[in-house]
Amino acid sequence: MASPFDRAAIGRLELANRIVRSATWEGMCDEKGAPREGLASLYESLAEGGVGLVVTGYAFVHEGGMQLPNGLGMHSDALIAPFKELTGRVHAKGGRIVAQLFHGGGQANRKSSGLSPIAPSAVSLPQYPEVPVEMTREDIRHLVASFGRAAGRAKNAGFDGVQLHGAHGYLISQFLSPQANRRIDEYGGAIVNRLRFMAEVARAVRSEVGGEYPVWVKLNGDDFLPGGYSLEDAVEAARTLEREGIDAIEVSGGTPASGERTPARAGIDSTEKEAYHRGLARAVKRAVGIPVGLVGGLRSPSVIEDIHRAGDADFFSMARPLIREPGLVKRWASGDRSRAACISCNGCFSAGLKEGGIRCVAARG
Ligand SMILES: Cc1cc2nc3c(=O)[nH]c(=O)nc-3n(C[C@H](O)[C@H](O)[C@H](O)COP(=O)(O)O)c2cc1C
Repeated sequence: MASPFDRAAIGRLELANRIVRSATWEGMCDEKGAPREGLASLYESLAEGGVGLVVTGYAFVHEGGMQLPNGLGMHSDALIAPFKELTGRVHAKGGRIVAQLFHGGGQANRKSSGLSPIAPSAVSLPQYPEVPVEMTREDIRHLVASFGRAAGRAKNAGFDGVQLHGAHGYLISQFLSPQANRRIDEYGGAIVNRLRFMAEVARAVRSEVGGEYPVWVKLNGDDFLPGGYSLEDAVEAARTLEREGIDAIEVSGGTPASGERTPARAGIDSTEKEAYHRGLARAVKRAVGIPVGLVGGLRSPSVIEDIHRAGDADFFSMARPLIREPGLVKRWASGDRSRAACISCNGCFSAGLKEGGIRCVAARG
């Protein structure tokens, strides 16, 4: 059997291996979402460091969706040229890069956007900075179209594909959640209705980028919230995405409100704690025929190989280990197969809020 570190096709993407840099907000753009020099250098170092694919940090499709400061923007045609330069630099290093598209919904932050957050319903949730305004049908139509246009810009800017952020309690994930989505129209209630916004976004994106362009989705397998979106919902969502022509699904879990089961769990200090969404990925993979990836706590090549051998996932994504060691995949390939040096302390988030963006605060020197 081929190794996860061998060349592979994931959907329509030919990659050097099955290791993906999962979307990681970097805080390395200007306030309008245009990349600063540091971002291109970071992506170059990841491509040189051996990952098969880089997924960018979340890029807002509309200003009202901004959350953490200095993230990427894909809301304006003015950004096509600077991103074209950036993708050219990654390609020159032999890398592949996909743009993650998102809207923060109720988790959007007025401090970044200057606008009131909007969401499927005006519910107060612990992870929301303020009670969001309930979206009208017109808002829904407008944002579906915004996702489509943003995907078109990413394609024009030379990205190898787009990934829709349908996880972690942001707008698409809020529509999926019976806790965040209390609508009584055709976008709320039964799972078939809660899936409607995501399906419309997928369709708008497809119609904008054409049938051949890679479109991936990051999807929670479970929100880990009482009365919230569950694995059963996720399986339905994955089947819908396959029907809508999505190329691959990356399975994550949790929202900022999920306590110890947030998407980026702390203290992954043993192989037993690694791959904490493996069961969710396995269940999603059993339900669909398209490639399914796994993110969350991957730290050891032996664990990755074991999951691959068992057929529980087709690609393997990491975020924090690659902040500390952008050359991790190359290190493993060179024979040093010791686990990632990342200690999962999440200090990289707060470092990202300072000038210069994310960095590992635990690494010496
Ligand atoms: C600093 C930081 C920023 C992140 N930004 C994003 C993001 O923009 N989009 C996203 O889908 N996930 C984001 N995540 C979550 C990661 O993609 C990933 O799901 C999570 O960190 C678990 O993987 P890991 O254990 O390999 O870090 C971020 C994580 C970190 C640590």
